[in-house]
Amino acid sequence: MSNAEPYLAQDDHAISDAALDTIFRSARTMRQWQDKPVSPALLMAIYDLARLGPTESNITPARFHFVVSKEAKARLEPLMDEGNRKQTMSAPATAIIGYDLDFARTLPTLAPRAAESLAAKLADDPERVKLMAMRSAGLQGGYFMVAARALGLDCGPMAGFDRNGIDREFFAGTAIKSYFLCNLGYGVSDSVRPRAARLGFDEAAKIL
Ligand SMILES: Cc1cc2nc3c(=O)[nH]c(=O)nc-3n(C[C@H](O)[C@H](O)[C@H](O)COP(=O)(O)O)c2cc1C
Repeated sequence: MSNAEPYLAQDDHAISDAALDTIFRSARTMRQWQDKPVSPALLMAIYDLARLGPTESNITPARFHFVVSKEAKARLEPLMDEGNRKQTMSAPATAIIGYDLDFARTLPTLAPRAAESLAAKLADDPERVKLMAMRSAGLQGGYFMVAARALGLDCGPMAGFDRNGIDREFFAGTAIKSYFLCNLGYGVSDSVRPRAARLGFDEAAKIL
């Protein structure tokens, strides 16, 4: 995408133009992967950044389970939609991003001032719990991909998988529900499809 727009040419951005390229302009959804591992330290570094993004009342309900080992990948394989299976099996790591419906458990630590009143509001309101968990976990999923890209990784997000199957296989005995999956690694950049259109500002946004 062009950066010829005058507001993008300003040199006082908080991060450099090159960083904006890395996170947004050059970054593409990857579906083919180089045979290059991603270290546990790097996976931890993604989380370390992503966890700082804002969530409602600081509930941080997203959970990230990194599927890396051959054994864990084998459990994932049959649960992927056909079109996502090959890209997932060849990716060095696949993050299962979920939301924890039992996020209230951590309120005393994460939101000490609001903990008591929020817990009371949530106690008999599973719809509200689910909305809060999904809304903030979705945001955290976005922060997660931005963090991964900022650290030099490529992302391949996916919604095409057996949700109930993943929940049974990976989140049994917990209140965590799968939200989306994200392959991580170093993509084969000449394998990407042409960039699809995005809506223009006037189609998607308004300044009121
Ligand atoms: C939540 C989510 C779910 C997606 N599901 C899939 C999927 O199941 N399979 C797939 O190949 N791509 C999937 N994608 C990738 C999108 O199609 C891709 O990000 C979009 O077309 C933009 O492509 P670009 O990032 O290369 O510009 C998904 C992306 C997101 C964010």
